[in-house]
Amino acid sequence: MKDFIVIDDLSNEEIEHLFQIADDMAGIIDSGNPKIARDKIMATLFYEPSTRTRFSFESAMLRLGGNVLGFAEPKTTSVSKGETLADTARVMTEYADIIVIRHPMAGAAKVMADFAHIPVINGGDDSHQHPTQTLYDLYTIQKHLGTIKGLKVGLCGDLKFGRTVHSLAYALARFDAMMVGIAPAGLEMPNYVVQKLKLKYKQGFEYVDNLEDVIGDLDVLYMTRIQKERLPQNIDYNSVSGKFVINKELMSKAKKQMMILHPLPRVDEIAYEIDDDDRAFYFRQSAYGVRVRMAITALLLGLLKMPNTVRTQPSPRLVTVKKRCVNPRCITTQEVYIEPKFELVSDLMLNCAYCEELPVDGEQ
Ligand code: CP
Repeated sequence: MKDFIVIDDLSNEEIEHLFQIADDMAGIIDSGNPKIARDKIMATLFYEPSTRTRFSFESAMLRLGGNVLGFAEPKTTSVSKGETLADTARVMTEYADIIVIRHPMAGAAKVMADFAHIPVINGGDDSHQHPTQTLYDLYTIQKHLGTIKGLKVGLCGDLKFGRTVHSLAYALARFDAMMVGIAPAGLEMPNYVVQKLKLKYKQGFEYVDNLEDVIGDLDVLYMTRIQKERLPQNIDYNSVSGKFVINKELMSKAKKQMMILHPLPRVDEIAYEIDDDDRAFYFRQSAYGVRVRMAITALLLGLLKMPNTVRTQPSPRLVTVKKRCVNPRCITTQEVYIEPKFELVSDLMLNCAYCEELPVDGEQ
């Protein structure tokens, strides 16, 4: 494994081993030693705003003893002169040892990985996936509830444009958790995610209309904000925001052990009055991001290795066919040198290898 672009790049066994390394990293954070990434450089290329992902990756690299360079505003780089992702990737290969990229187009991290000769980590690509967020979402659940298998997890908020819930849904299905969706009309899970859950993981995805209807059954409630910056013109933010808010009154109906998670930032979907509730895990969750990102960084840099006994994830089955991706936010629509590729998810499902949307027939 050279890169970490989608959650399916890691097998369940690899994820479980990574969690053990993350536990070890907590000790390194406390002791300040050893500096296993001395002389290594991480490039953080953030084409979209971030607080947690960029700073926790930079903190992870510094705590490993390495160095960081990068940008948080692409206008200050030659991207503003029209430099492509492919050329940026080729150049950065010579300046750094590992790249973390966040980008407003789906599939951009895969393009960076295809052209860079150093490991690339996806720090979030449009509404596609956020696989390192998923790693520490799972880590937080595993650490505090002891297992993921058999849990009932409510995914609440913008399930269409929120990327964290897409990679998390695949992971929860793989670890045999049950899911229920709570979303404003028009912001339900995209069809391609629901189809993949059904065909690849044999798991349906059902909805309830209100948090009240389900909160008493949940082991984990994963809240998300409305992704205002990605809403299309036909969806008015005010008509979809504020629909689902977790507050003290609702928490009085929840299980004593129910965890509230949120990838953050929050807007108005979690009332401040429950921040002191023992079941509010979102700030602990974001703190775990550092040790988990130390673990994935050390593994991809080859500073630590997976044991030979750990089963690896099979590579995706890629095919070239006369189809095109329908997603206007797919990187293949912006960077014209990219050859469209499709992945055979099951015998019944083909999706864009960059953004996962279901393709339509047509000339390439
Ligand atoms: N959770 C998350 O990705 O936060 P940032 O957008 O601040 O990185």
